Amino acid sequence: MTDPTRRLRAVNALRSAPLLAVLALLPWSSIGAQQTAGPSADPAPADLTFTRDVAPILQQNCQVCHQPGAIGPMSLMTYEDVRRYARRISRLVEAGDMPPYQYDSDVGIQQLKEDWRMSDDEIQTIVDWVALGSPEGDPADMPAPIEWPDPAEFRLADRFGEPDVVVASAPYDVPEVGQDRWWRPTTPVGVNETRCIKAIETKPSVVGRAVAHHANSSLEVAGERAGRLSEYALGKVGEIVPEGACRRLPANADVVWDIHYWPNGVEVDDDQVEVGIWLHPEDYEGTYDQSLTLYFLQGGRGYDIPPHGTLMTQGFHSFDSPVRIDSWQPHGHTRLVAMSIEILRKNGRREMVSMVSNWSALWHHSHIYEDDVAPLLEVGDQLILTGWYDNTANNRYNPDPDQWVGIGDRTADEMSHAWIAVTHLDEEGMEKIKADRAARLISEQPDRDDR
Ligand code: HEC
Repeated sequence: MTDPTRRLRAVNALRSAPLLAVLALLPWSSIGAQQTAGPSADPAPADLTFTRDVAPILQQNCQVCHQPGAIGPMSLMTYEDVRRYARRISRLVEAGDMPPYQYDSDVGIQQLKEDWRMSDDEIQTIVDWVALGSPEGDPADMPAPIEWPDPAEFRLADRFGEPDVVVASAPYDVPEVGQDRWWRPTTPVGVNETRCIKAIETKPSVVGRAVAHHANSSLEVAGERAGRLSEYALGKVGEIVPEGACRRLPANADVVWDIHYWPNGVEVDDDQVEVGIWLHPEDYEGTYDQSLTLYFLQGGRGYDIPPHGTLMTQGFHSFDSPVRIDSWQPHGHTRLVAMSIEILRKNGRREMVSMVSNWSALWHHSHIYEDDVAPLLEVGDQLILTGWYDNTANNRYNPDPDQWVGIGDRTADEMSHAWIAVTHLDEEGMEKIKADRAARLISEQPDRDDR
């Protein structure tokens, strides 16, 4: 089976910090000279064709959703399909709206796991090809079709195999039209010893995907709360716990669901949401606990956004032990336009970790930092979460700029929080991570004597 994200990961690895650091050191004149000196290896833009240059990019980055029966509104399999949408494709691809992975490429950490963004070259190829009038080219150049995974399968199965445990919510009938609904059944997990979780993916049914706005799951043991299991919102794939950490699944736990259905023009009977859990082996020793928690901005309430108005709000969080931030997932609805996460060091230095400035409530991603770049916080350092709201007509997703918008659970209300996975360390654990990272950095340095 082909994993369309695998190549994306490779591309992003290539764009990693060391390479960018090298580029940043080159004087501008030498970059210019490189571009103009000698024949270019790149095909002149006038050569770009659908079959040779564009179809392979669409196969890798778009067709998983844009094929008959998948979640995209149209198919992008053939030249005829694509030509019809060429201008819109060019616009959305250039804006970073498709593939739908909203994450700024010019600030903060760029090495992420399960990153769907395309490379600048791929984006430019599509934009240039559309500007050329979308020529088809030689049909013989068309790449062989890709064998797609079944949309009913867990996406992370490609990476980890089938989940060890699958827990399904009790069936629920979602009407074609109506207001938001909440469904909170309880289901036993069926694991009778405490284990460490390796990865989790919440999967709405194929038809239910259009109406399951979010599906959170908590754990309970004998009726007592035992922490958060996972969080899902439209468009999200899953969560991967870093090696060495333990997201604990207690023995004999129940999953308590909190599913928010949003009737959306399709009637869905007996809908069930599933959560797939991949477990570490029984003898796995995760030294430090990882938790997934919701971190509020401004207490998560207490503000209203005026009609035709804007708002900025912040949340500050500190920890009583050293921590590693493993992933960050902003959450808001249609008036949210941007969110960022920064670190305020105790010496006053401020560091941008991640920013999303083209937020879309249709897509929620847990941005998972690569192991060697996941931010480390000492006691006394703070996280700053900042959210920007736009209730004017300039916000393309705003359903009605004439409304006052308050904080609440309905899709038409607003929310402001981020889901953050944190590994809780101690001084020793922190020093070990730093030493391991430094050692890897040295071992990856090219040996200068080899040249
Ligand atoms: C993960 C699934 C997914 C991937 C990958 C994806 N799309 Fe989409 N696309 C969607 C969905 C769902 C919509 C409709 C909702 C929205 O706009 O977000 C959409 C909407 C669009 C639209 C707007 C259609 C309209 O009627 O206005 C275009 C154009 C588009 N996608 C092109 C692309 C291209 C080109 C790629 C690859 C470079 C791509 N998409 C990758 C799921 C996806």
